[in-house]
Amino acid sequence: MSSKPKLESLKKITRRSSIGLLAASIPSGIWAGAIEPDQLSTTHREITLPRWPRALDGFKIAQVTDLHYRPGADDKLLAKVIAALKEESPDLIALTGDFIIQDQSSLPELFRELKVLSAPHGIIASPGNHDRWHCSQSLLRKTIEKSGVSYLANAGTTLSIKGENIFIAGIDSIWGGTPDPSKTWSGHQRDQPVIALVHEPDAFDHLRPSHRIDLQLSGHTHGGQCRVPLIGYAPAKVKYGKNYIYGHYEKEQSQLWVGRGIGTVGLRVRFACSPELAILTLRSA
Ligand SMILES: [Fe+2]
Repeated sequence: MSSKPKLESLKKITRRSSIGLLAASIPSGIWAGAIEPDQLSTTHREITLPRWPRALDGFKIAQVTDLHYRPGADDKLLAKVIAALKEESPDLIALTGDFIIQDQSSLPELFRELKVLSAPHGIIASPGNHDRWHCSQSLLRKTIEKSGVSYLANAGTTLSIKGENIFIAGIDSIWGGTPDPSKTWSGHQRDQPVIALVHEPDAFDHLRPSHRIDLQLSGHTHGGQCRVPLIGYAPAKVKYGKNYIYGHYEKEQSQLWVGRGIGTVGLRVRFACSPELAILTLRSA
């Protein structure tokens, strides 16, 4: 056989493979750009904390993170988040930062929408890197508190529930702000369980040895935003979000939850990594 027919058949195979890949990538692209970014999913997880009071067994926290609100484009998605939160009726709502991308005018628009939310033990927010890169602390505080949400940046608050006191620590963004763990934990009384709102998950390893953390709630990574289906590999890594990408982690007596978040940065695309509202039910060991 001459080499010419071999070359022709190789060309045909290559052409067919390219067409096949293109045909497969068009629906994937449409899905990632036009469908999945609006496909809100609610994750329900039970997390057993070894030092959580028995009286507060079943305490339900809703975590909303990385809204990165784009007025107009994200309105339907935000409406879904609000409807889902109302339906879940959590005890506490935690907003763990990155409310905006870069336009600070979207901050008041977002918190005007969130004003309809309530929870028996409040809504507490702490900042993310994008918030701190593009908004001053005073703007964040003023806008967020105006909507009835508590703002914690290097501060803590004690919630008294069913005769138990729990401490909520909200630290400034590790990447975009000036985090001060000593100030954040300064009001913490010995033996109080601590829920820490820390936008960047990788801070877990630095904070945990010196400050009590029963459960740290983080976002920042968007779960990778686009993941490889089935194996779940997330190729895009972000500073301070390289070690803990998504889900539940445990180290000694401290645990970490990293949510996939709601919004997007860069292109408004998500793939195999849909927007997530996390409902975490805390169990006493
Ligand atoms: Fe972030």
